This record gives sequence, C-alpha cells and structure tokens, in this order.
Amino acid sequence: MAVEYIAVSIDNIPVGLELDCKAYVKKGEEFAYLCENVTITDALLERFRKAADDPDNPDNPVVYIASNYLEAFLKRGVDLGWVPEPEKEPEPVAEAPPPKPKKSVKPPPPSPEFEEVKRQYIETKVKAESMFAKIAESGKVDSGSTDDFVLEIGEKLETNDISLIIDSINNIRSVDEYLHTHSLNVAFLNGLMAKWLRYDKKRHDELVKTGLLHDIGKLLIPDSILNKPARLTKEEFETIKKHSVLSFEMLVNSGIREKALLLGIVQHHEKLNGSGYPHGLTAKDITDFARITSISDIYDAMIAKRAYKDAQSPFTILENFAEEGYSMLDIKLVKLFIDCMIGELKGKFMVLSDGSVAKVAMVNERNLKYPMMELEDGTIISTTPELYCVRMYNADISAEEVAEIYKE
Ligand SMILES: [Fe+2]
Repeated sequence: MAVEYIAVSIDNIPVGLELDCKAYVKKGEEFAYLCENVTITDALLERFRKAADDPDNPDNPVVYIASNYLEAFLKRGVDLGWVPEPEKEPEPVAEAPPPKPKKSVKPPPPSPEFEEVKRQYIETKVKAESMFAKIAESGKVDSGSTDDFVLEIGEKLETNDISLIIDSINNIRSVDEYLHTHSLNVAFLNGLMAKWLRYDKKRHDELVKTGLLHDIGKLLIPDSILNKPARLTKEEFETIKKHSVLSFEMLVNSGIREKALLLGIVQHHEKLNGSGYPHGLTAKDITDFARITSISDIYDAMIAKRAYKDAQSPFTILENFAEEGYSMLDIKLVKLFIDCMIGELKGKFMVLSDGSVAKVAMVNERNLKYPMMELEDGTIISTTPELYCVRMYNADISAEEVAEIYKE
C-alpha cells in the first residue's frame, strides 16, 4: 500500500526517538536528505535543519515522516509512557570500498536520425528564444504565432522517434539559456504525456501550449533573482513564487481565454496535499493540465544542469517522483510518466560514478534509482549506492553551436 508522508516540525521531534521508517527532508522542490530506521540525536536534528534550510519556510523547518509510523509516535507521546533514551553518538560511517574499475562501454557515434532530431530540436529552440524575446519586449503573447509554434512542436512529436526527442530534452542545453529551453522542454514533455494519455488533437495542442507558456511570467522577474547562482533570500523566493499568477495575468491581458490552459498555468505549482502555491489548493481543485504540467516542470528542472547545481540522473528523478507522488503529485499520472520513461531509457548510455560508461539493460520499477547496466563485455551489473548512474552520457551543445544553427 502507498505510504503517505506528513510534514512534522523538526522542533517537535524528541531526541532518543527510534524512527522505524523512512523520513526525508526537502529543500524547496528538491530532496535534500533521506534516512531510514535511525535514532534521533541532536546531531541528526541539526542535520535535518541544515538540509531543510528553506528560504520559503525559514522559521519552521520540517521533516517528512511516513504517516503510518506517525500515528504510533503520536500515541506514544499522548500516554506519556515513552522515555527518551540517552543521546547516542552517531555511529561512524564505514568508508565504502572504492568501486572496482569497470570496463567502459564505448557508445556508438550518434546516428543520422539523432543528428537530424538534434538539428530540428536546436532549430525549435532558437525559435522559442526569439518568441520569448518578442514577448519580453511587448509584454504580450501573440496567440496566433504561439499556436503555429505549438503545431510545429506537435508535428515533431508525430514524425520523430520519441526516444530521440527525450534524448534531446535530457542532453541538449547550455547553462545560460534556462527559461526558453525549459519552457520548450515542458511543452515537449506535456505533448508526450498527451500522447501517452491518448488525448485528442485539440486537447494535445492545448496541453503543449500550457507547457510552452507556463513560466512566461518569469519574464517579469529580474534576472538577478531568476538566475542567482546562490541561495535565494525569503523575499527573493516570494518574488519568484509570483510567476504563476504573473503568467496567468499576462495571458489574460493578451486576450487568451482558454480556460484549461489558464488554470493549468496558474496552478502548476499547487500540490495535491495543499502545500503548493499560490493558493494552497488541494486535490479536488487542481486540474489535470496543472497536474501534468507540474510533473513535466519538475522533471525538466531536475534534469537540467544549472549554474548552482549538477544535472541529475533520470533514474534519481524518477525515484524522487515515486516518493513525492504519494502525497503531492497525481500518483496515477506519475506512474504513467515513470512507466513510459523507463521504456524510453532502456538502451541509453549513462556515466557511472566511477567514470565508466554503461548501457541501461533493465529498470526495476521498485528500485528505480539503481538500474541494471550492461558493460562492454556483455556482463550485466546491478548499480548500487557505491556504483551508481551519475548522469546520461550526453552530447551537450555549446552556445557557439546554437549560434551556428541560428545563422543558417
Ligand atoms: Fe513555474
């Protein structure tokens, strides 16, 4: 049965408590610390606080504890029968043995099909950049040209191999072009979800358009905050949180009246358990478009390499999704996304933590983070916390390469 996680103030967790379950701490949208079957010590509480150092909630850092355990914990607290154990020193962590050198797979050169999809993807990205520049200048969205662009994205999803489009989303980006690349990727991912959900053409296009415009309000937020390569202050984070309402207002002011699109955009940071923003809505009020866009948004934000963080392996992201899906995201949609992505990631090349490259052989949906990998000699190994997938073996493009295509 799915386990729900409940946010508990770190200040309310007593030292000495045996936590016989999983617990995790998040920083903003991201998982920052995960533990299981631990005894609470002052040192561990301090670690929780550090990991949860969240500008959004600086005064009340929380840890998410499995709800089935929490009930037992509360009962024990009420009958006062529980006596804290003396604080234990944290046990020294044994040094993991260095991973054995593996025989690295030599990935084949990119196929002509991939080169073609890559060319088309970069071309689309250049168009997205100029579209966003026009919107930034005029403060208005031209619905007609946006619709043409949405049709173009739909055609690419229709005519190209999906796995190559996912390759492009996962690999091709440079650090300094976040907003339009992210928006384009969320549009593509929304299109893939529409395909997997068998939406009709009209709904498909509207969902792609939702992805393309979901963060458009960020054009009104100063770059110094948006691309700050350091932790945001509480005020700065509050400013960023205004972007979903700003997106909505900009679209309404531009004469756009598509209800599903507008609600999908203003709600894309709402969470089913009410912990999202701007309105703290709960499941019954959050639309399908918002639920889907939220999944596409989180996936692309995590896969991206930013000025302040490294790109993450898609398997780590899928594992985090599975955890988060139980309380914050739509679990059925998350499951569909994970199942379809697993299928597409099979056979892809990944860089492992020892620097070698291996091919994805099999993914166990109960252990998403550690897929089985095939090495050059055909042996299959299981990845582990000691030897794991760091990121996709990729073909990052430089700003010069984008400029080159732009000139053509
Ligand atoms: Fe957003």
